[in-house]
Amino acid sequence: MTLTRQDTLALDAQDPLAPLRRQFRLPEGVIYLDGNSLGVLPAAAPARVAAAVQQEWGEGLIRSWNSADWVTLPRRVGDKIGRLVGARPGETLAGESTSVNLYKVLAAAILLIKQQGDASRRVIVSERSNFPTDLYIAEGLARQHGFELKLVEPDDVAAHCTASLAVLMLTHVNYRTGRMHDMAALTRTAHAAGALTIWDLAHSAGAVPVDLNAAEADFAIGCGYKYLNGGPGAPAFLWAHPRHLQTMEREDLWQPLSGWFGHAAPFDFTPQYRPASGIARFACGTPPVLGLTALETGVDTVLAAEPLGGMAALRRKSLALTDLFIALVEQRCAGHGLSLVTPTEHAIRGSRSTSPAPRAAMPSCRH
Ligand SMILES: Cc1ncc(COP(=O)(O)O)c(C=O)c1O
Repeated sequence: MTLTRQDTLALDAQDPLAPLRRQFRLPEGVIYLDGNSLGVLPAAAPARVAAAVQQEWGEGLIRSWNSADWVTLPRRVGDKIGRLVGARPGETLAGESTSVNLYKVLAAAILLIKQQGDASRRVIVSERSNFPTDLYIAEGLARQHGFELKLVEPDDVAAHCTASLAVLMLTHVNYRTGRMHDMAALTRTAHAAGALTIWDLAHSAGAVPVDLNAAEADFAIGCGYKYLNGGPGAPAFLWAHPRHLQTMEREDLWQPLSGWFGHAAPFDFTPQYRPASGIARFACGTPPVLGLTALETGVDTVLAAEPLGGMAALRRKSLALTDLFIALVEQRCAGHGLSLVTPTEHAIRGSRSTSPAPRAAMPSCRH
């Protein structure tokens, strides 16, 4: 039986997550279903960004690198994002774009594999329908390092985890279909084959529960402007498992974008590069302070759900909304040539799209 509008209003009235709606600003009457592309403006963002511009920049000027903690923003915002994706403090860095962060972690994974000395392990596997920038970055690095990029269908990924696999590079939730991979299972399969994994969490962070450490994943990256509500062009994030940071340190391996913010002592201004220890060696240039400031307000909108059950509670609501949306589209749009490409099964479905209430969900449809 399909719910009536009255039923849905009654559900809204008892929704424990309803107070989170106040964290977002939307034009009156707008129902927004595109948070998978650009998240909604956090109500706190305009004043917080204005303060960063007027007081921190305008009055504090260069002193604000220390007095306003600009210099630690990538770690601070990174740690907040880390809480949403199962990272421990000190493992996540916010900054740069997803594409650039993917370049850094994929290059690091390639170096780690090469350092093992098995020249027959030279394949990067990804999904044919992965977001193009991921494939383009991988194509470029594969050319540079003499690796092969193999693109496969989602159901065939596990079968391609063989002895030649160097890196399994997947987007956890597919940007077109909303289909979600089993991160823990595929990571286990890739590890059993001797390979490393990279997970793009662009459509997962702030949208579905993720536990990178429990999954024993190797590297992860993701966008700040989608479900994290960081604003247009918001900085992205990057995570590396500490075991790889330790190996990189021990073997003197650097990720190739060895800029001064990833130096062990950037303000010594020495002519030689010496990578910082830990995740800081993945930093490159000067952090985008205003972008990180806006992003922090966005990440805070998701963290605000922690006392109300956190990502698990958001997930329950997201699934319920998507189920309802699918049912209503099937009921009301039948005969209009629409077919559903999003899986109906919860275990393999992400949270297609977002709305400020706090997570509406829209399955992807195609003609
Ligand atoms: C899975 C995925 N990765 C990466 C990106 C974009 O990367 P960038 O922020 O570098 O443009 C997108 C954009 O939609 C995406 O869906």
